[in-house]
Amino acid sequence: MIKKRIAILTGAGVSAESGLGTYRDNGGLWDSYDPMEVASIEGWYRNRKLVLDFYNMQRAKLAEARPNEAHRLIAGLEERFVVDVITQNVDNLHERAGSTHVIHLHGEATKIRPENTCTEEDGFSEKYVVDCGYDSVSLGDKAPNGAQYRPHIVFFGEAVPKMERAIDIVSAADTVVIVGTSLQVYPAAGLYRYARPEAGIYIIDPADVPVFDSRIRHIKKVATEGMKEIVDILK
Ligand code: APR
Repeated sequence: MIKKRIAILTGAGVSAESGLGTYRDNGGLWDSYDPMEVASIEGWYRNRKLVLDFYNMQRAKLAEARPNEAHRLIAGLEERFVVDVITQNVDNLHERAGSTHVIHLHGEATKIRPENTCTEEDGFSEKYVVDCGYDSVSLGDKAPNGAQYRPHIVFFGEAVPKMERAIDIVSAADTVVIVGTSLQVYPAAGLYRYARPEAGIYIIDPADVPVFDSRIRHIKKVATEGMKEIVDILK
């Protein structure tokens, strides 16, 4: 029997119950840091050390974090379905919970690359991306090609190279589940609109969400509770 295809689109809210902050909730990261200073390409060229320190802090927090029940329930769906996780998160909690098909639209905190690679010129090649784990990266840490290492993150102002692949996955899905994103940052926020007319679309978020599509069923719960409901719905 052909397995149904599930696309799970996640944001910072899926990792909130693991103790990692979200960006735009009260007390979120962007209350304390200006994203244009610490997470934009202009910010990188203006002050590389500030950006490196910001992601060193993210990595240190990630080292202490553990996947939560929502990550585990998402990974568990792979027993019955073809599951693709398309996340805006730069943490590695989906992988650590056992998900085997994860696309990081906005990059990965545990990876770095020479700052002159993975550009439009080289076709966004990830050939020189290396895994730095939870280690800190400093100004002066150079790649073999002599370039400064930078976070393998999609900064504000940069292209989102994996968007095309993500659209293909959502367009082929039987069910789309959106978990824990404020749907404020495009193009990721518009991804669910590529779902087929007959696909079921669910959004899990304890807050009100900016979607007005009658097809979408809002499960107004935290990720761990909402994912239990999704598992029941998909039985
Ligand atoms: N369970 C589910 N959802 C939650 C929970 C929870 N426990 N706690 C908060 N949320 C919801 C919030 O209500 C909000 O809608 O998660 C969402 C978090 O929204 P943001 O903080 O804006 O995070 P996200 O949508 O992932 O941000 C998108 O913005 O700054 C960029 O690149 C960054 O990937 C990030 C992108």
